[in-house]
Amino acid sequence: MSESYVFYQGNIVNESEVSISIRSKAFNYGLACFEGIRAYWDEKEQQLFAFRLRDHYVRLLQSAKTLNMSLPYTVDELCDFTVELLKKNNFKTTTYIRPIVYKGADSIGPTLFDNDDRIVIYCNPMGKYAGKEELSVAVSSWRRLDDNMLPPRTKATAAYLNSALASLEVAQNGYDEAIFLTSTGHVCEGPGENIFIYKKGKLITPPPSDNILEGITRELVMQIAKEDLGMEVVERSIVRTELYASDEVFFSGTAMEVTPVVKVDNRIIGTGHQGEVCRKIKEVFFGLTTGKNPKYAHFCTPVY
Ligand SMILES: Cc1ncc(COP(=O)(O)O)c(C=O)c1O
Repeated sequence: MSESYVFYQGNIVNESEVSISIRSKAFNYGLACFEGIRAYWDEKEQQLFAFRLRDHYVRLLQSAKTLNMSLPYTVDELCDFTVELLKKNNFKTTTYIRPIVYKGADSIGPTLFDNDDRIVIYCNPMGKYAGKEELSVAVSSWRRLDDNMLPPRTKATAAYLNSALASLEVAQNGYDEAIFLTSTGHVCEGPGENIFIYKKGKLITPPPSDNILEGITRELVMQIAKEDLGMEVVERSIVRTELYASDEVFFSGTAMEVTPVVKVDNRIIGTGHQGEVCRKIKEVFFGLTTGKNPKYAHFCTPVY
């Protein structure tokens, strides 16, 4: 790997200068929370646009607050550090940015009350995450964590063991991605993305009370559907067999972007190919990530 710069505790340094203690509580107990942010490269303009930077740092600080972690930086400062970091790395390609707030190594127990919180931000090039244009998915036998167990809305690193187990199960069974049900049997989300179904003219997605991470892309998909496509959007609980009976199913997320699901548990969804609603949402979505749509240009921060 060529030289990579990271943000560590207030400074941009060479990645090789950062070492995290084997005693860190992030390593020992998963006491950390994180974000995943994309910056979109515009080849024509030779410009990199960090996407919804503020929204991600607002969510990171909210997650940290819930986990009793704190940082000496404001949202605006974190946005500025990130732009500086991208510049320093001189990325000229679509990039993924990963800020992590974590507990240090001050004491041995799994405690959240010590004042040894740290932050690191690293980034790397990222193209398509899904690996496929259309996904075949399965409902996992692993249930989604509950807000009163390990709140998924905090993007706590520890919660991603739940995601990894579901992903492993469905990958071993030959599927592309998993769908979680909640402990009460409602459709929740994927291991790292939110879910939408389209049925009888309505776009439907599970509500925050079904233990989802309230995705920033989910919010944008709802806005595009309502305001740009004039659709009815409903947040309500969904049951498993509604997935099979849907005209369309698709995922949304920073890494996953907007990606259609064409099979669930071996049942063909709709025509078995990307549906019209998903296609139209993708068209608006991919038309706005590099500042070309004036209505959404404020979501895109130019780096250079
Ligand atoms: C569990 C989970 N759900 C949903 C999402 C999608 O959220 P966003 O659109 O903010 O990336 C993510 C990704 O961050 C995630 O990890």
